Amino acid sequence: MVQEIQWSDYFSVKVEDVDEQHKTFINMIHQLNEDYKRNVEPERIQYVLLEMIIFARDHFKTEEDYMKKFGYPEYQSHESMHTEFMNEMLRFFKAYEEKPDDTIEKILDFLKSWFIDDHVLLADRRLGNFIYQRLGSEQSSK
Ligand SMILES: [Fe+2]
Ligand SMILES: [Fe+2]
Repeated sequence: MVQEIQWSDYFSVKVEDVDEQHKTFINMIHQLNEDYKRNVEPERIQYVLLEMIIFARDHFKTEEDYMKKFGYPEYQSHESMHTEFMNEMLRFFKAYEEKPDDTIEKILDFLKSWFIDDHVLLADRRLGNFIYQRLGSEQSSK
């Protein structure tokens, strides 16, 4: 069983719109987990997965726009992690179509570890600190 994730300040990257999107994404992971536990039909799960893929794409764009705007030095490595996430999710989406029962727990594990343990708490937090400093100096130079 996949462990539940709760939003807390611990996850904050200090940039409000990015935090809000991360919260929404955590809610989507919860939704997926709930649907899975309640054994809802595969079509419903596929719909949620698709929503998550679309949401992740928009979220990555938010972060990448910040990176471009402020000339983030780790842009390329961060962006390639986003691309890898999208590719992996698309692979999972196809795998789920073929073998839903074998795939759903793998998807939940992947989402949890990638989004929460690996990416948000490391790469996004580093980016968040960078944006936070730049936004601060933008405000004080007005
Ligand atoms: Fe990111
Ligand atoms: Fe993120």
